[in-house]
Amino acid sequence: MKSNSIRFKRTNGGVGAFVENADLSTHLSDSQVKTLKSALGEYGVLFFRNQMIDPHAHQAFAENMGTIDINRFFKPVEGFPKIAEVRKEPEQKYAIGEDWHTDHSYDQIPALGSILLARELPQHGGDTMFSNMYAAYDALSDGLKEMLLTLKAEHSSRHRFGRQSKASNSSDTGGRLGNPDLATQDAIHPVVITHPISGRKALYVNRAFTLGFVGWAQAESKALLDFLYNHASQPEFTYRFEWEEGSVAMWDNRATWHKALNDYHGERRLMHRITLEGEALPA
Ligand code: OGA
Ligand code: MN
Repeated sequence: MKSNSIRFKRTNGGVGAFVENADLSTHLSDSQVKTLKSALGEYGVLFFRNQMIDPHAHQAFAENMGTIDINRFFKPVEGFPKIAEVRKEPEQKYAIGEDWHTDHSYDQIPALGSILLARELPQHGGDTMFSNMYAAYDALSDGLKEMLLTLKAEHSSRHRFGRQSKASNSSDTGGRLGNPDLATQDAIHPVVITHPISGRKALYVNRAFTLGFVGWAQAESKALLDFLYNHASQPEFTYRFEWEEGSVAMWDNRATWHKALNDYHGERRLMHRITLEGEALPA
């Protein structure tokens, strides 16, 4: 398959594109990988349909795209320590990733993104929302943009995955998350980053992991962060992806947020996630 046979079709929402003519079960050429990476930087999230790949092929595709970054908190798939399970059982109430977030922003070198594959889906529901952090930034006033460009924010994993976190203390977590003592990461990143692939500016704070602005009081940070969280989750920036068996979403954490819709109580949903290593984020 020639690299120019891969095609991208924008979604009808505010973020993402569908990829046509890509078979993820085959080894991709360097030029195909380049095409996919640059599209990832441009669209923020790429959706693939009908990819009947087993865990070996999923991992081979991820290794084709980059280096795998193993998540320390998610339970791995049996026999595949580099693949994380994103699971919800019928009796469980909490779903992994229910709030708007970007993965691994608590790391000094945050993950590039993830390749999430649907394994078992509920009859109805279990969609994933994505939001466009380029568009969210672009839509702000020049005055606020200028101020945000001067700010840095602190991010942490402790309150989400550490010993004191709800996830670590709830029986509903049911072995899905572990290693609370490894929740030691804190990181400081620019509030507006220059995207490593596209060179565009993107808003880089998120409800799950951002603690506050460096040098600001908690209440001050909260007020502005709440404004930004409401602003960036407006429908015009978002797209709601409906999974089918064999669907794959590959997202870029530096250009998007995502959120799992937890609307399928009483049914199982099982996804396999492989996370790709990123790089330090420049202002
Ligand atoms: C994730 C995540 C969302 C979903 O895997 O990082 O947030 O819909 N998943 O499962
Ligand atoms: Mn996530």
